[in-house]
Amino acid sequence: MGTIRHLPGLDGADEGNRGTVANHRMRQVTELVATSGIWNPGLVDEVRGLFDSLASEWTATRDNPRRNAPLIDALERGGVDGRIVLELGAGTCISARDLVDRFDTFVAIDLSWEMLFHAVDGAPPLICADGSSLPLAEGAIDVLILQNMFLFTSEVDRCLADNGTLVWVNSRGPETPIHLPTEAVVGCLEESTGYGWDAVDSTVGEATWAVVSRA
Ligand SMILES: C[S@@+](CC[C@H](N)C(=O)[O-])C[C@H]1O[C@@H](n2cnc3c(N)ncnc32)[C@H](O)[C@@H]1O
Repeated sequence: MGTIRHLPGLDGADEGNRGTVANHRMRQVTELVATSGIWNPGLVDEVRGLFDSLASEWTATRDNPRRNAPLIDALERGGVDGRIVLELGAGTCISARDLVDRFDTFVAIDLSWEMLFHAVDGAPPLICADGSSLPLAEGAIDVLILQNMFLFTSEVDRCLADNGTLVWVNSRGPETPIHLPTEAVVGCLEESTGYGWDAVDSTVGEATWAVVSRA
């Protein structure tokens, strides 16, 4: 239905090898959520518990001067425009901190209170909520950022404005536990909504990004 345009990749730093993720539990959950819409109280507890346990080390093990290069490249070469931005699954806001000044309104949401409790200085307003059921009106968001975060297709479609944009980033590309290739992001959105979505994508070092909007 929609089209995918591939831009040339850029050089960039790699985050280092944290081991293969082929059978990582979060990869299984990523595919369950995106393809089947499966999300239940057991998964909420499991995912929240995992990220609560990682929160105190998250910034120290991920923050580096080039961490946000893929997301910024997605915004710039992906031609992303808008006033009201949500980063869902923002974690400790390593990225959100660098983006707040680019937009009129920037809000960060995460399921894990511990992640938000450990948010870096300069983080935007924080909300603890579940991305499967966002406390937002229909069409409220111009730009939705999902970096290393699950794809709740119905909520993406409900909360994005008509001309809104989804920005999908995987910091370690296919080695990211919560990863989907662009074709799967577009395919899951089309399957869920019944209409076409276009994408432009690229790479920065090992990272992959896609900017996706309704066709
Ligand atoms: C892999 S971390 C990525 C954090 C941040 N985006 C980054 O790249 O540093 C995934 C984040 O998504 C959050 N998350 C997972 N499921 C969620 C949900 N249903 N609603 C909101 N946040 C969720 C987790 O708590 C965690 O902070």
